[in-house]
Amino acid sequence: MNLRIENGRIIDPANNIDKTGTLVIRNGKIAGIEKAKTARRAKGSFDATGMVICPGLVDMHVHLRDPGQEYKEDIESGSLAAVKGGFTTLACMPNTDPINDNPSVTEYMIKKTRRVGLIHLYPIAAISKGSQGKELTEFGVLKRAGAVAFSDDGQPTRAGLMRRALEYASQFDMPILDHCEERDLSRDGVMHEGEVSALLGLKGWPGEAESTIVYRNIQLAAMTQARIHMCHLSTSESVAQVRAGKRAGVRVTAEVAPHHLFLEDRALESFSTNLKVNPPLRSRPHIRSLRQGLKQDVIDAIATDHAPHADFEKQTVFESAPFGLLGLQTALPLGLQLCHEKVLTLKQLISKLTILPARILNIPHGTLTVGSRADVTIFAPSRVWQFRAEDIVSKSHNSPFIGREMRGEVIRTIHNGRVVYSV
Ligand code: DOR
Repeated sequence: MNLRIENGRIIDPANNIDKTGTLVIRNGKIAGIEKAKTARRAKGSFDATGMVICPGLVDMHVHLRDPGQEYKEDIESGSLAAVKGGFTTLACMPNTDPINDNPSVTEYMIKKTRRVGLIHLYPIAAISKGSQGKELTEFGVLKRAGAVAFSDDGQPTRAGLMRRALEYASQFDMPILDHCEERDLSRDGVMHEGEVSALLGLKGWPGEAESTIVYRNIQLAAMTQARIHMCHLSTSESVAQVRAGKRAGVRVTAEVAPHHLFLEDRALESFSTNLKVNPPLRSRPHIRSLRQGLKQDVIDAIATDHAPHADFEKQTVFESAPFGLLGLQTALPLGLQLCHEKVLTLKQLISKLTILPARILNIPHGTLTVGSRADVTIFAPSRVWQFRAEDIVSKSHNSPFIGREMRGEVIRTIHNGRVVYSV
């Protein structure tokens, strides 16, 4: 199957390409870029005038709930949400049921994704058995089964175990992805600790519960010379710690989720449980630091932390609702908003959604290099649309962005040279 995507702005940060032209796909692979032209259109061509053509987006942090909680999401509905959001590659967290701490779960995830056939999926396996923080899983066996990183996401990893996990993972040149939370400080906290939590009478989760662990992790990564990745950074001090770690030559990387760049703790005055997320939405100064950290490339990747929860779970009092919100369908337009606001250049945004997360996970995605798999996203960068509940293809609906006007819309998503989503 051959495809020509004509006259679009082709942006491929991995190869430092930003030019108008025609992307040619042959037999599921990128065949090359041709000069833009006005000649009559060939069969199998798509006119992308005014649109951006970039590598299929890579989300290094999602929860697909499969196996075990398919009423929230499953690999099929998660894949549909991904391609509608422009993502062709996902890395999924191990907090499924059972936990992905053994090769049979890892293999199940990969096989089911292949059967669905819409995206590439890379499982992140648990650091510890059952994510209980006691005994390490078998990293080598999990790697062979297809895992690309390790994390006990959602569960903090204590210092001694983290040290051993870093040492063990570095033997396989794999990163540890940490959910940075000191539970002794955050325990029972349901929102950012500050003025608003005091006003609302809700228990706070202070920023220091995150940044103390970020600091500890950097120390441990320096000690072991291993690779550590900080999940969903949410505070100014965390950004400062990562900046310092990078300057000192520690092998540290970091991600931020779109909701932490756009939503403030103040929004919780509505008590909407769709705003309840872990780590919590912070105050404006933190948002400013996160945006700056992103702009200055202290924060490498944008990752959604797509965390579906069913209506019946979210429709309860704030304290009892589970943490998490949907991210796959709104990440690109929110990212583009950062470009419209001049926080990021388009090339920077695309790199943080493609090649940078792919490099962290060491997976062969996020580029339009000739010969690579033809995973491509085409979007209209300024098209205005409204995100409506009916647009959601996830099984859950817990998005705080429903009703929001977005600028920038995915037009087509191509996976292995095949159109898997089209408006
Ligand atoms: O808000 C969150 N939800 N944060 C996490 O760390 C876990 C996730 C989930 O699995 O629902």
